[in-house]
Amino acid sequence: ESIRIFAPATVANVACGFDIFGLAVDNPGDEVVLTKRDDDQIVITEITGDEGKLTKDPEKNTVSVPILRYLEKLGIKQGFDIKLHKKMPLGSGLGSSSASSVAGVFGANKLLGEPMATGELLPFSMEGERVACGAAHADNVAPALLGGFVIIRSYEPLDFVKINTPENLYVSIVHPDIEVNTKDARIILKQEAILKKIIAQTGNVAGLVVGLMTDDYPLIGRSMTDYLIEPNRSILIPYFNEVKETAISNGALGASISGAGPSIFAFSEGKETAEKVGQAMKKVFNQGEIDTNLFVSKI
Ligand code: HSE
Repeated sequence: ESIRIFAPATVANVACGFDIFGLAVDNPGDEVVLTKRDDDQIVITEITGDEGKLTKDPEKNTVSVPILRYLEKLGIKQGFDIKLHKKMPLGSGLGSSSASSVAGVFGANKLLGEPMATGELLPFSMEGERVACGAAHADNVAPALLGGFVIIRSYEPLDFVKINTPENLYVSIVHPDIEVNTKDARIILKQEAILKKIIAQTGNVAGLVVGLMTDDYPLIGRSMTDYLIEPNRSILIPYFNEVKETAISNGALGASISGAGPSIFAFSEGKETAEKVGQAMKKVFNQGEIDTNLFVSKI
């Protein structure tokens, strides 16, 4: 018995919501094929699209670790053969490790007749993130698992909620062909913030949620400033300021780093604007002789 699962790329943080906001896109995404074995072994039989960078050790790969923890929790001894097809760049800020984590455990749960509800799979998927970057953040795995825009209200205890987004809201994501390791991009962050910045940031967090839930595009745009993380991380991304300014001058509501970077995302009202914004952002990188991938998706 076998199953093929697709899990989407995700944009984490979404400007002002570090570790608490994330959204899923239509493409790209990872594909995982799971096949039940006659024994209790978890075996990664094939990985494609990773340029040989990922380990097949089931205790270390983000696709298998969530499955192992999930089976332990259920007390079930069931082995799987796993084929992992990476269909998005690694270290891109697109939630590549999360997509694998989610696809694996989601597929295992399906093959076992869904002993757990989809939302209950989240803590296991987060264990995949822990292996990938040392921190079990949920802002990529939650939207990859549930779809749409998800808020992690609390980590301890884990509490998350999916919210509605405007019908005509699109995201353009430009991925420059450079790699930023999430672990490194977390180490450089300051652990303390001044109150004035926290006030500005929480105002934006509240404004973005209300803007998304009430289809208030200008409010969404006004709320898309990150005072806490972006100033430290943007130095890892060449042409960051130029790309962001270009997005906004071409009609985007706002733009920021996708997850830990180096991808940059922008929100736009309407697909046409999102395409135009994406092309303009791409051009800035290309003029700097950096290759890019562009993804435009409805949210
Ligand atoms: N919230 C995480 C971070 C997402 O910014 O480090 C990583 O993809």
